[in-house]
Amino acid sequence: MTHVNRLRDYLRHPFWLAIALLVAAYIVFEFGVAYLPPLFGVRSAPIPDSVLLQYLITAAVGILIYVSDNEERWKRFKEPVGTLLVDPGLRWLRTALLVLVPLAVGWLTYSQVRPGVAAPVQLRSIHPAPPTSISFRGRTIRLTGLENPLRADGSIEEDYEVGKRVYYGNCLPCHGDLLDGNGHYAHGFNPPPLAFTDNGTIPQLTESFVFWRIAKGGPGLPTEGTPWNSAMPAWEPILTEDEIWAVTIFLYEQTGWTPRTWEHEGEAGAEGGHD
Ligand code: HEC
Repeated sequence: MTHVNRLRDYLRHPFWLAIALLVAAYIVFEFGVAYLPPLFGVRSAPIPDSVLLQYLITAAVGILIYVSDNEERWKRFKEPVGTLLVDPGLRWLRTALLVLVPLAVGWLTYSQVRPGVAAPVQLRSIHPAPPTSISFRGRTIRLTGLENPLRADGSIEEDYEVGKRVYYGNCLPCHGDLLDGNGHYAHGFNPPPLAFTDNGTIPQLTESFVFWRIAKGGPGLPTEGTPWNSAMPAWEPILTEDEIWAVTIFLYEQTGWTPRTWEHEGEAGAEGGHD
């Protein structure tokens, strides 16, 4: 029990409490949200390191606000640091830190600038040819010549509203608030999420091509497009057929582009080849 008591004493001290909270925050951000069973019902994709750093800085600021909020607590919080800097008995620790801290900073800087062997960020070269038909939730959908069925019936405004909800609920973290491919997670991926505002993306495509890409995502890309390491998820298990058509309408309405239509196409169909 004495161990537990000692631990409790430590945690009463604002300095060690702050350290413990920071470590706990790191564990929750790094492992809690991504790998463990949903924590408090929250589950998200693994987060890129840079986002993790942002979250940790936010947590650290919160912790600092807490420890400095009260004069007494702030004084105690600073005590161990003061002791470390002046206590004659801790000379060895000071010397060790004097060596270790610059080494750690040096190593971090080095690993940031060290040339890596990772593939360079590739500019996306071509839209791979879509299959002529796909199976969607057990139903075969013929893509060639297919128009967005929602445009023929119902109101575009309603479809737009449904699509908007689908977009902001699912696509935002990668493709961004402004549909410019600059979502919160975007820079963690190579190839990056595409900017629908860019004239090299959806304006080059028929809506059936867009449907196929949303339904099958990166995993459904044909091998001819390799090397692909696309993070684009397959939405078939999550979104219904109508929801995918609706989000397609949203993408075009919101960016102001018009989809390519089949009348103007050769048999090459939706192969929107741009360099
Ligand atoms: C985890 C990040 C991520 C999420 C979430 C995501 N995408 Fe993507 N998306 C990507 C990446 C990366 C690419 C580029 C690589 C590729 O084409 O597979 C992409 C490509 C696309 C393309 C191909 C555009 C083109 O010009 O070829 C479409 C269409 C698309 N996404 C739509 C969506 C829609 C709609 C949603 C939400 C239902 C969504 N994405 C959610 C990462 C994501």
